[in-house]
Amino acid sequence: MGLMDNKRGIVFGIANDRSYAWHISNQLAQAGAQLAFTHLPDPKGKMERRCRSAISELGIEDPWLMPCDASKDEDIQAVFDKLQKDFGTIDFVVHSIAFADRQFLQIGNFHTTTREAWTQAIDISAYTLLAMTRGAAPLMTNGGSIIAMTYYGGEKIIPGYNIMGIAKAALEHTARYLAEELGEKNIRVNTISGGPLRTLASSAVGGIDKMYEHQQAKAPLRRNITGDEVGNTAVFLLSDMASAITGENIYVDAGFNIVGL
Ligand SMILES: NC(=O)c1ccc[n+]([C@@H]2O[C@H](COP(=O)([O-])OP(=O)(O)OC[C@H]3O[C@@H](n4cnc5c(N)ncnc54)[C@H](O)[C@@H]3O)[C@@H](O)[C@H]2O)c1
Repeated sequence: MGLMDNKRGIVFGIANDRSYAWHISNQLAQAGAQLAFTHLPDPKGKMERRCRSAISELGIEDPWLMPCDASKDEDIQAVFDKLQKDFGTIDFVVHSIAFADRQFLQIGNFHTTTREAWTQAIDISAYTLLAMTRGAAPLMTNGGSIIAMTYYGGEKIIPGYNIMGIAKAALEHTARYLAEELGEKNIRVNTISGGPLRTLASSAVGGIDKMYEHQQAKAPLRRNITGDEVGNTAVFLLSDMASAITGENIYVDAGFNIVGL
């Protein structure tokens, strides 16, 4: 009997088999969840091919998969319309997407961020949680659980994280407002603050190598984290085991966030 038997939901954010979303999906699938996925559309179909190949590594053949550029309301709406048609109801949503122009993710250049880059980062990395929740809520007739991925750079200064830190602060507080408003429908909204993991997105952050080294040296567990460890926490938050947990930010960072020096 798996923790997620009889639960189905959607995962946004598998770019490849290193994505946080992939590790989360892996643990969800092993716990018995039924999964739907989206990929970022691109004209040559490269993203779709990479996403399909990563999903097949999960042992899922013929997946429910739709394109979704989360900066477009109509794409998000189309995903939830199709989910409603195919499944009727869903139990969970995994938001594991973020974007910022890498030009502004270099150490020392936060102050050069343009209005356009600022707006785009917050739109794609934070507003999308609200938009997805709005799409998902009508399908969560038996209650539901929504999680989004964040990082400690949303609370403290991590040189190079820059505009993404501002977007994560917005994401975390968006999750709290959503949790308060949707609690009466038994829909829970939480964030997971994961330690640094080598992915496509993290390679765009200027100070990323320093982050791994610092984490290894200073975290109470004296190491970096694994994708599985984030996946396990995601399963917990999306399952009924976490039925009284909402509006929280759970750290999966080997304890790094408690250290002052
Ligand atoms: N890797 C880390 O060190 C780390 C640490 C903490 C939090 N996170 C967060 O985890 C989440 C996933 O990132 P990741 O590290 O797995 O990298 P990743 O590159 O594997 O995933 C990022 C995903 O965002 C998607 N995306 C970007 N713009 C989009 C758009 N407009 N519409 C739809 N999807 C879009 C990409 O297609 C990709 O699938 C992000 O929110 C990231 O900030 C990552």
